[in-house]
Amino acid sequence: MLVKSIFRQPAQPPSIRVFRGFASWGPLLTAAQAPPRLKTFQIYRWNPDTPEQKPQMQKYQVDLNKCGPMVLDALIKIKNEQDTTLTFRRSCREGICGSCAMNIAGRNTLACLCRIEPNTARDLKIYPLPHMFVVRDLVPDLTQFYKQYKSIQPYLQLDKLPADGKEVLQSIEDRKKLDGLYECILCACCSTSCPSYWWNQQEYLGPAVLLQAYRWIVDSRDTATHVRKEMLENSMSLYRCHTIMNCAKTCPKGLNPGLAIAEIKKSMLLSSG
Ligand code: SF4
Ligand code: SF4
Ligand code: FES
Repeated sequence: MLVKSIFRQPAQPPSIRVFRGFASWGPLLTAAQAPPRLKTFQIYRWNPDTPEQKPQMQKYQVDLNKCGPMVLDALIKIKNEQDTTLTFRRSCREGICGSCAMNIAGRNTLACLCRIEPNTARDLKIYPLPHMFVVRDLVPDLTQFYKQYKSIQPYLQLDKLPADGKEVLQSIEDRKKLDGLYECILCACCSTSCPSYWWNQQEYLGPAVLLQAYRWIVDSRDTATHVRKEMLENSMSLYRCHTIMNCAKTCPKGLNPGLAIAEIKKSMLLSSG
């Protein structure tokens, strides 16, 4: 039986990687032979060890012929070859862990899923996620974000366990209701793009945490629905969402937190009526 590998094919070593842009000129050129395509990256820098120095944008040049296609590839290359002090989070390189979220060319997204714009005439600007305290360089402080996530009790709650001590089953239809919700990787791109969250971060839960709240409210197996809704029944936690929809526009996983928030509001209205 054939088993499909879940691992990526290893990248070709740079010496044999083919530069396809000149393919029509005749024999293929290797990356080493092709003229360099230097792209300038402007990256936000701030060091907590020198707080008297204001944050600044630092420029780095990367030859795109010798770099992987994603922004995270360029950041890793800069850190490895030019400046080991450049600080950013990353782990999976596959859009799964959510740790490389940052603001790239004006949009909150994941560096590992964001292609480098090939036009070398234009600089690429990279900032940390907006309206968050910065730990260092591109690393935002997510303490409040995780505190809010914890506050919605993001785990299955049951009045009583199944008599046979086995799984809590769910119909196929009920399971489908979790699609578009369970895929959230808690990268915080949506919350940090939401103007309501920028201005009311201490009290408004924001789109990511509310999408997660809805994920448990709508789960047919969970018996704490009433308590979950009650926690949101105040003027700040939920109702600061004004349906601006920046959240859905920016989500790198293609989810729609604004819709999840609207569903919570609808179900609160129906249960109070
Ligand atoms: S909804 Fe999308 S943008 Fe928001 S935290 Fe989840 S994956 Fe990230
Ligand atoms: S729809 Fe709501 S949560 Fe999403 S960006 Fe707008 S105000 Fe924020
Ligand atoms: S490194 Fe994990 S999502 Fe980008």
